[in-house]
Amino acid sequence: MSAESGRSVAVAITGASGALYATRTLAALLERRCRIELIVTEYGRRLLRDELGEEAAVERLADYLAGKYGEGTRNGSYTLYSNRDLGAKIASGSQDCEAMVVVPCSMKTLAGIAHGLSRTLVERAADVMLKERRTLIIVPRETPMSLPQLRNMTLCAEAGAVLLPAMPAFYQMPKSLDDLADFIAGKILGALGFTHDLYPKWGG
Ligand SMILES: Cc1cc2nc3c(=O)[nH]c(=O)nc-3n(C[C@H](O)[C@H](O)[C@H](O)COP(=O)(O)O)c2cc1C
Repeated sequence: MSAESGRSVAVAITGASGALYATRTLAALLERRCRIELIVTEYGRRLLRDELGEEAAVERLADYLAGKYGEGTRNGSYTLYSNRDLGAKIASGSQDCEAMVVVPCSMKTLAGIAHGLSRTLVERAADVMLKERRTLIIVPRETPMSLPQLRNMTLCAEAGAVLLPAMPAFYQMPKSLDDLADFIAGKILGALGFTHDLYPKWGG
């Protein structure tokens, strides 16, 4: 077991395009033996199936991740919560979950986090991260963006969140969608403090 093993991280998948970013991030965290507190919104569930196929339905996620990314994804574990369960442990600041990633993050959920609404478990768990001054990484995906959406990103950044837009780079010469997803997942892992080789570092 590495020094990085066993970390507790919440991952929220919402109904923005880019389900592949979520599965790649989950796989990389599970390979690192993380304990994942997983929330998938209603539209997040739809996006997993629409973009990745029925085999990626949330009920089959463990097998999907192992099939696509390897058996190492079984090193870690995840607990799936209902987005309606505001009594789940990650709704409280007393739990030991040290960081949260919302990937991808819809503009609706972004707005809910920005305004501290806590209507759903995703919004509440994100609010807990902000109030407890823990790491919250938001991966918004929309284009073009309205002024309210831009302001909501600013509000989250001012509250301490890391805004990590789903904007893959091309200098690493991606050859596949997986290469693009690796880049964003690598950025997320870096923001969480993990070392990784998900994309080649720029050598100048
Ligand atoms: C196929 C599909 C793609 C979507 N893509 C996006 C997107 O990229 N960004 C976004 O903000 N909303 C997108 N939406 C709309 C959100 O899913 C919708 O606003 C939903 O209410 C978000 O709820 P949630 O944040 O609880 O998942 C998409 C919806 C569908 C059906």
